[in-house]
Amino acid sequence: MAKISFLNGEFIEHSKAMVHIDDRAMQFADSVYEVTLVHNNKLIDGELHWQRLTNSLEKMKIRINYTVEQLDDFAQQLIRQNDIVTGSLYIQITRGVAPRNQLLPENIKPTVIMTISEFKLPVAEILDKAVKTISQPDIRWQMCDVKSTGLLIGSLYKQKAADANCDDVIMLRDNVVTECCFSNIFIVKDQQLITHPLDNHILAGITRHRIIELAKQVDIKVIERKFKFDELLEADEVFSSSTTTFVRPIHIVDNQMIKDGATGRVTRELFNSYLKFVQST
Ligand SMILES: Cc1ncc(COP(=O)(O)O)c(C=O)c1O
Repeated sequence: MAKISFLNGEFIEHSKAMVHIDDRAMQFADSVYEVTLVHNNKLIDGELHWQRLTNSLEKMKIRINYTVEQLDDFAQQLIRQNDIVTGSLYIQITRGVAPRNQLLPENIKPTVIMTISEFKLPVAEILDKAVKTISQPDIRWQMCDVKSTGLLIGSLYKQKAADANCDDVIMLRDNVVTECCFSNIFIVKDQQLITHPLDNHILAGITRHRIIELAKQVDIKVIERKFKFDELLEADEVFSSSTTTFVRPIHIVDNQMIKDGATGRVTRELFNSYLKFVQST
């Protein structure tokens, strides 16, 4: 069965889904996106993803011609047409097609894209694989709360990590730990969970939000505050969170081991509760 994608109101064969070369996503990364998990044919935390997409569009002043209900309906149709039970759904909205000009064109129609791929839920065994990271300055822009497709720093850093035989980069803004390349980051100290507060220096991760809720349910104290790199190196546990990696332990940072280098109890517990949450949706 050929993969079907969504483009501007139509469901078409993926290989035939084309966007114009004057689309502003090409010249200015003038577009925002979402990645959501699909399980049992349903979006996981769909409402939160649609809300974040709406926030990103508002901050970028991109006006769309569909309501969230219509977008959700297109997503459901795409899931059905591709016969996906567990998958990842990618949604991108660009400002649209216009001759290249720095000023924002008025009255143009945004480009709306959705693609879907099969996805395997992570299994607990991955928690035993050593995850190595390096630290780097967070040189991204000051609107990291917008889920923009301007992702080059994250991509260059991901490659830098791979070239150093590592899995990810931990980013530091004035020595404050912000995020990994494509995920939020948490530390555990004395059974308390600490993560950067929501502001313009991090993306408001949907998995981050869900992990915080799940932690509170089992009486793990959650503190949303800035923490410095030294505090991370002294932590009992460190992990990252995202839609596609769930809860991922971090064992080594700049060749230094976190605690004894093993995945901690809180990380395991939160991975399992998040997996259960997804499976029960
Ligand atoms: C920079 C950044 N931070 C955090 C996240 C995690 O967000 P979510 O949990 O919504 O996938 C992502 C996901 O792509 C990201 O790119």
